[in-house]
Amino acid sequence: MLKIRQENIKDYKEVYNVIKTAFETAEHSNGNEQDLVVALRNGDGYIPELSLVAETNGQIVGYILFTKIIIGKYVELALAPLAVLPEYQKQGVGSKLIKEGHKIAKSLGYHYSIVLGSENYYSKFGYIPAIQYEIKSPFDVPNENFMAIKLNNTNIEVKGIVEYPKEFGI
Ligand SMILES: CC(C)(COP(=O)(O)OP(=O)(O)OC[C@H]1O[C@@H](n2cnc3c(N)ncnc32)[C@H](O)[C@@H]1OP(=O)(O)O)[C@@H](O)C(=O)NCCC(=O)NCCS
Repeated sequence: MLKIRQENIKDYKEVYNVIKTAFETAEHSNGNEQDLVVALRNGDGYIPELSLVAETNGQIVGYILFTKIIIGKYVELALAPLAVLPEYQKQGVGSKLIKEGHKIAKSLGYHYSIVLGSENYYSKFGYIPAIQYEIKSPFDVPNENFMAIKLNNTNIEVKGIVEYPKEFGI
């Protein structure tokens, strides 16, 4: 049975290896995603409730992290990274991690999550080009790859250029 739960300190080493292994065969990778997570955990944007592992038979097979970003006056979320071990991919693990993450993010009151990634994948979970919400990337990227999802209905105007935590090096 696949279980999604909050990561704890004892998981750090296993999570590091899951991220490293998942991105070794990824289409887009800078090879540093596992180190980014180490840095983000120690940064101001870290939210323990949104650092989640997917576990089956006591083995961690997937990981997702949402960290704080700033859009205009508001603190919102960026999904990065999402990683599933190659032998567990295409079995719904990534989906479960995203859906559970969104549920928790909603309950914590965030309005938006943004992601940089494949439009074919993230559109399945409700992400659309962020530009449609007037949320803009601080770097050059095709509009279709810089996406956002509205998590909570709101009338507040969350618009502007995204400011990432310094750990992203942007
Ligand atoms: C991308 C990744 C997280 C997907 O995880 P996963 O557990 O295989 O995804 P799921 O099984 O939940 O897939 C859900 C749906 O997306 C599809 N899908 C899976 N990988 C996809 C991809 N790379 N591009 C487009 N669609 C994809 C599945 O076929 C499935 O479609 P369906 O619901 O119509 O059947 C995983 O392949 C991975 O870790 N890749 C390496 C790291 C990476 O690239 N991370 C993303 C960085 S932004």
